[in-house]
Amino acid sequence: MRSQSSLAKRYGSTALVTGASSGIGASFCRELCQSGFTTVIAVARRSDRLEELRAEAEKRWGVRIVPISIDLAREGAAREVLSQVEAFGLEVDFVVNNAGFGVLGDMESIDISRTTGMVDLNCRAVAEVAALFLSGMKRRRRGAMIITSSVVATVPAPWFAVYSATKAFDLYLGEALYAECKGTGVDVVTVLPGLTRTEFQAGAGLDRQYHSPYRSPEDVVRTAISALGRKAIVVDGALNKLLVHGTRFLPRAVLLWLSRIVMKVELRRE
Ligand SMILES: NC(=O)c1ccc[n+]([C@@H]2O[C@H](COP(=O)([O-])OP(=O)(O)OC[C@H]3O[C@@H](n4cnc5c(N)ncnc54)[C@H](OP(=O)(O)O)[C@@H]3O)[C@@H](O)[C@H]2O)c1
Repeated sequence: MRSQSSLAKRYGSTALVTGASSGIGASFCRELCQSGFTTVIAVARRSDRLEELRAEAEKRWGVRIVPISIDLAREGAAREVLSQVEAFGLEVDFVVNNAGFGVLGDMESIDISRTTGMVDLNCRAVAEVAALFLSGMKRRRRGAMIITSSVVATVPAPWFAVYSATKAFDLYLGEALYAECKGTGVDVVTVLPGLTRTEFQAGAGLDRQYHSPYRSPEDVVRTAISALGRKAIVVDGALNKLLVHGTRFLPRAVLLWLSRIVMKVELRRE
């Protein structure tokens, strides 16, 4: 991993993290506070959590957290975030485009508002945040964006169908943006976490016993940051790497068959 403060030295002083109130996003905020950033804009809906993070960052590291409490799944929300950032007189140098959720179950049994909510948050908001914040960084010829996808982006996941499709969107978007931003001074990396101990499982209806393959949010953060400027995509954890890269050349039908078995087990644990 890059040494402390070299991250800010390379990219600038102000970071923005979506999904900052828990899990991977909160862990990114804490890491960035220790990496030389002087301001971290923390975006999520739960203002109490953002306030706790603000107090912690100020006390432990003397870093300013600017909480923005907003529902990013709402149309126009990303634009409102940009307006608030501009009203504070801030320019964002480092973006963690991370807010997202999943729901496990038969497609038809999932409330349609949760299905469209997944598409709105995991796809539209991610694309909007990328479009709105990349332009400033490109203009200044300096910056970075981390996009949180998932290992389920690499293979369709039955009973997690919409979620895996939205994460495939994030993967394609991030990989293409990496190529598009080459030579502009802006680094883009897409991180693919596997099972990670966060609040995601509770929201998704997944088993929450956090059995051994589970990784910590701090692991995911380290993996993403260490790949920044070097790779387009990075899979977090050796076992997840083996699963993604080791199965890459399997026939699609075999991959789908395996995915169905794994997901059926998850569904039974529910
Ligand atoms: N944990 C895993 O096993 C795993 C595996 C692969 C990929 N991922 C991905 O990792 C990312 C982070 O998830 P996590 O694991 O850290 O889960 P988490 O602990 O549930 O965190 C999700 C974050 O997204 C925010 N969020 C949810 N809905 C939102 C909305 N409508 N508007 C604004 N913010 C919203 C939540 O804040 P509020 O509720 O306060 O709004 C929270 O801060 C997600 O994109 C997820 O798909 C997770």
